Amino acid sequence: MTELIVSKLCKSYGKTMAIQDVDFTVNDGEFVTLLGPSGCGKSTTLAAIAGLQMPTSGRIKAGSVTYFDDGKGIALPAEARDLGLVFQAYALWPHMTVRKNLEFPLRLRRIAKAEQTRRIERVLSLVEMGHLADRYPHELSGGQQQRVALARTLVYEPAILLLDEPLSNLDAKLRERARTWLDDIRHRIKLTTVYVTHDHGEALSLSDRIIVMNGGKIVQIGTPREIYEAPSDPFVADFIGSSNFLHGELVATAPGGSLATVRLEDGRTLAVTLPREIAAGRFVAVAVRPERMELVDHPTSSETGTVLEVEIRHRSYFGSHWHYSFDLGREAIRVSAAKEYAGDRVSVFIPTAACLVFETSPPAAEKRKIAKEAKAA
Ligand SMILES: Nc1ncnc2c1ncn2[C@@H]1O[C@H](COP(=O)(O)OP(=O)(O)OP(=O)(O)O)[C@@H](O)[C@H]1O
Ligand SMILES: [Mg+2]
Repeated sequence: MTELIVSKLCKSYGKTMAIQDVDFTVNDGEFVTLLGPSGCGKSTTLAAIAGLQMPTSGRIKAGSVTYFDDGKGIALPAEARDLGLVFQAYALWPHMTVRKNLEFPLRLRRIAKAEQTRRIERVLSLVEMGHLADRYPHELSGGQQQRVALARTLVYEPAILLLDEPLSNLDAKLRERARTWLDDIRHRIKLTTVYVTHDHGEALSLSDRIIVMNGGKIVQIGTPREIYEAPSDPFVADFIGSSNFLHGELVATAPGGSLATVRLEDGRTLAVTLPREIAAGRFVAVAVRPERMELVDHPTSSETGTVLEVEIRHRSYFGSHWHYSFDLGREAIRVSAAKEYAGDRVSVFIPTAACLVFETSPPAAEKRKIAKEAKAA
């Protein structure tokens, strides 16, 4: 039963702050994913937990064992931490069969022979590799090698599992299959796990909770649904899935209610719902998921959303659907639809409930105008 607590963790390389004040808890048996763009500090965080990188400051605790505490001068060596690590490179022993690869970590730990056999059979069946146990790594596919790498970690029953982009060497089809078996395994073993990926689909489908990182800091922690449906800022809205952004100014808020109107950059209005109170006159970015925007044949009025006529700039055929793009204000908007719209002009329906509103700073031209007015006053 192990809970992992990471507090105020910082790591700098010279002047580069790789991670800053990283704070999170992984509950016992929970599968948590560190998600973010390249260079945001995911691997640095994982390596610090594993004991492969010495943090600059902070604390890491697993159950009752302190792995790292700069205040108390504690830094437990990697081999003394009860962890299983799987990286992108499988690094199996090439001269050993699958079974021997699994036996090796158990021999190191001086596990009795009968117990070794029991555990090896168990993990082989868990990763469905029993029938290939006598093959050498070069006789296996990439996906099969990755299963063995995971099995080799699980066989010594670590308290915590750390996985850094374990599927990223696999091609797209194999990766999807691997994601399914990994999901299946995680439900069966319920091990405290930290998983690192920059693939939002993988994070959404596998995790109990997701920690979104950007520029060395945590920007949001939540369940996959919370992260996708209520992103905390425009970065999260765009990084997890994708979002179209409409820019404008909040012109009116219904008293006491969450309904409001945004005047878009081209002067047209958009009905939105507000997550929290934002004062009229503030500049906002409205994020709308492409799948929530709907193309319609005829402009109609609606109480539950806004219909805007737009000019299609680009269309591409994807077999099962079409992609369309058009300009709204400064941004190119992308929408997909099941059918072909042949004409240049089409109407797009934007549901009020699909609008995620974020307060932003005024655009540069607007800032100059505000400064000029302030100076004159
Ligand atoms: N040994 C090092 N020396 C100097 N800077 C480093 C070192 N290792 C990592 N960094 C820097 O620290 C930051 C975080 O790197 P990290 O490897 O944690 O990113 P990541 O989120 O895992 O990225 P990716 O998705 O590309 O693997 C980056 O700016 C990186 O350049
Ligand atoms: Mg990395």
